[in-house]
Amino acid sequence: MTPSAPSLPFRDKGLANTVAAETQMSFIDGAKGVLEYVGIDIDSLARQSTFEETVFLLWNRRLPKAAELQAFCASVRSEYEVDARVHDIVRALPRSTPPMHALRTLVSCLAHFDREADENSPEANRRKALRLLAKTPTLIAMFDRHRKGKPFIAPDRSIGIAENFLWMLNGARPTEAMSRALDICLVLHADHGLNASTFAARVTVATLSDMYSAITTAVGTLKGPLHGGANQEVMEMLLEIGDISKVDDYIMGKLSRKELVMGFGHRVYKAYDPRAGFLKTFAKQVATDTGNITLYDMSRRIEEIMAREVSAKGIYPNVDFYSATTYYSLGLDLDLFTCIFAMSRVGGWAGHCIEQLEANRLIRPQADYVGPHGVKYVAIAQR
Ligand code: SDX
Repeated sequence: MTPSAPSLPFRDKGLANTVAAETQMSFIDGAKGVLEYVGIDIDSLARQSTFEETVFLLWNRRLPKAAELQAFCASVRSEYEVDARVHDIVRALPRSTPPMHALRTLVSCLAHFDREADENSPEANRRKALRLLAKTPTLIAMFDRHRKGKPFIAPDRSIGIAENFLWMLNGARPTEAMSRALDICLVLHADHGLNASTFAARVTVATLSDMYSAITTAVGTLKGPLHGGANQEVMEMLLEIGDISKVDDYIMGKLSRKELVMGFGHRVYKAYDPRAGFLKTFAKQVATDTGNITLYDMSRRIEEIMAREVSAKGIYPNVDFYSATTYYSLGLDLDLFTCIFAMSRVGGWAGHCIEQLEANRLIRPQADYVGPHGVKYVAIAQR
């Protein structure tokens, strides 16, 4: 039987029109601005679920029963601590290290202290997913304490991921409102189809490498300002503008110079990002409660200008635009914003690694060669 001829290469730079995988975790309708996790709309989950329950949903494709959720939370909390030798590695990092560089290094370090690092069975990968979910917040908090010359705060196994992160970060018990605010942000950022960092993780694990390598790949990919790094740049922009009276000139100036306004636009959403919609309302509440309403008002004005100037191109606020004001109002340092994104998205990344291996095929696209042919080799003496 003659082998079937390979289908003609389909050129799709940026892969915007390419379906590279099937997933049962999140559904996105970019035209209508819809996001669902396992069929449940993101607004319902943000209002009624918790981050731990949302991760259980993503990994098991259903909501947990009460006893299952309790057991899942207990398993996560039992894995909060990191090996004592990781403490020494954190302390060895220069205090000036940008947090996402530190996180990329520290996530990778976890593999050295996990006997199952190279085990690729579904069971081993689920255990590693849980360890990564539980330990990522610890790594971020430890590095931030290190860079500020403060002692590490041990994780508290009696509380959930969001509250425990704020405790380890600040060494003070957060209010219930602050813990819940962060918990909601973690729900909103947990998964989002084949975004760049998730796709990168899938490419890595599709080679039958390991989950720690895949999550390290994902952290490095999320760092970019066209992806997860946008939220920090949004806040830097708001602080640079400084006052609502300067917003119009600042934004119009950027647009006239064809510069990107961070926190806007999306490869898939050509309507309002539903996460931005929820965060907008939420940001107003948190900003009001914390005396940062001016930042929210400036954000609203930026949105009005962008709506007038570029919404015809399908450019709307994305998840990063209002998460910036929310995180700032929670007292989080600007350069930790993308780490917060990562500690949530590690749930989606790990879920996609497991999903990729359920029906794996090496991911290896083609490239158009556009260089010369028939070039003669010239000995170095003749060059
Ligand atoms: C995330 O994929 C995901 O799911 C990602 C994410 C997730 O949950 O994982 O949702 C998280 O990454 C959100 C995006 C965060 N990034 C930013 O906010 C950075 C600013 N946004 C842009 O870089 C841009 O919108 C992208 C990268 C997000 C999407 O770009 P595309 O799909 O490649 O679109 P494009 O660059 O081709 O832009 C089309 C047009 C261009 O104008 P023209 O050349 O046609 O005249 O829209 C313009 C762009 O210049 N444009 C913008 C703009 N974004 C696009 N103009 C001004 N400001 C912007 N932010």
